[in-house]
Amino acid sequence: MVSLLVTDIGELVTNDPALGDGPLGLRRDAAVVVDGGRVAWVGDARSAPAADAVLDAAGRAALPGFVDSHAHLVFAGDRAAEFGARMAGEPYTGGGIRTTVAATRAATDDELRANVARLRGEALRQGTTTIEIKSGYGLSVADEARSLRIAREFSDETTFLGAHVVPPEYADRPDDYVGMVCGSMLAAASPHARWIDVFCERGAFDVDHARAILACGQAVGLGVRVHANQLGPGPGVQLGVELGAASVDHCTHLSGADVDALASTRFDCMCPDGGHTTTVATLLPGAEFSTRSPYPDARRLLDAGVTVALATDCNPGSSYTSSMPFCIALAVREMRMTPAEAVSAATAGGARALRRDDVGVLTVGARADLLLLDAPSYLHLAYRPGVPLVSTVLLNGESQ
Ligand code: NIG
Ligand code: FE
Repeated sequence: MVSLLVTDIGELVTNDPALGDGPLGLRRDAAVVVDGGRVAWVGDARSAPAADAVLDAAGRAALPGFVDSHAHLVFAGDRAAEFGARMAGEPYTGGGIRTTVAATRAATDDELRANVARLRGEALRQGTTTIEIKSGYGLSVADEARSLRIAREFSDETTFLGAHVVPPEYADRPDDYVGMVCGSMLAAASPHARWIDVFCERGAFDVDHARAILACGQAVGLGVRVHANQLGPGPGVQLGVELGAASVDHCTHLSGADVDALASTRFDCMCPDGGHTTTVATLLPGAEFSTRSPYPDARRLLDAGVTVALATDCNPGSSYTSSMPFCIALAVREMRMTPAEAVSAATAGGARALRRDDVGVLTVGARADLLLLDAPSYLHLAYRPGVPLVSTVLLNGESQ
């Protein structure tokens, strides 16, 4: 494998405060050397070592690839009509999930695979170099297992969401469904999954069912994530904190106690952030945009010291976008995040939500996932919404 020098970077976001200014670790007139798929050197362009090949950034901005830590890509069909009705005044309830379940069950493996490939390609072109992929539209043993098998072809960050909603055939006996999720479904799904997730919400799974399912997943070695407090206040966030979840996602309706619980989560571990890690609050502004709902209060979380991630929630119902730059622009404009906070949340924050230290940063030894923007600064990601600014994507050091 040849080494590559990316030079004449006008502004480099490293996400390592030791490498530059502020939390973004910003450097001017920088260069990065990539070797063997990893970052081998970071410093001033004028003192960069030689490499086998050179990529001239011509003064453009560079940053780590986006880490989209929440996406539902394994599904068939779409729900454009539901979206149209919503924009005419219908509320979002999550009830449409069953429409996608029916379409997903009827699809062939190749159809599902092609849809994941299409969305993964969209995301990559927009700078997403790490993406988490959930199941949750199969909701039978065979359909959840094949959803995760297909997801695994595209990402190591796969999440078993058999507890998305109770499928129609179990509508009258949710306890039996929970028993199956914890039994035969988990056994079939877990070899293909790193994480387990539950939609803990009125109309989906209550806190007792959610706790039971997440505990079963933990018992077989899966990490915990929770869909929490999306449609209304509830116990999901505190359940996630109780179980040491890597991330609680949505966080749209939070009480003071929820914010306090998140702010107090610090688990001792051998982590690069100084020996601690936390339960991250993953905010998904594409969902509020597409359901015309109030946005989560990011300022309140950040000001309380909570680690925040931004992700797309890409799915055919509540948020059919694969674009992290779009989510950054929404977070800045609608959630009072600064551009620096939003870019950090979309890169380092996503990595924290996946408990990864090799992505979301450009430090020596990190995976060489690097974006060049057709712009002089990361600020333009929010300043120029809707403009395709990601001009070069390196994934594992390879140009895509
Ligand atoms: O994260 N809230 C639950 N699950 C998805 C929506 C799924 C759908 O509407 O199809 C979400 O928003
Ligand atoms: Fe989701």
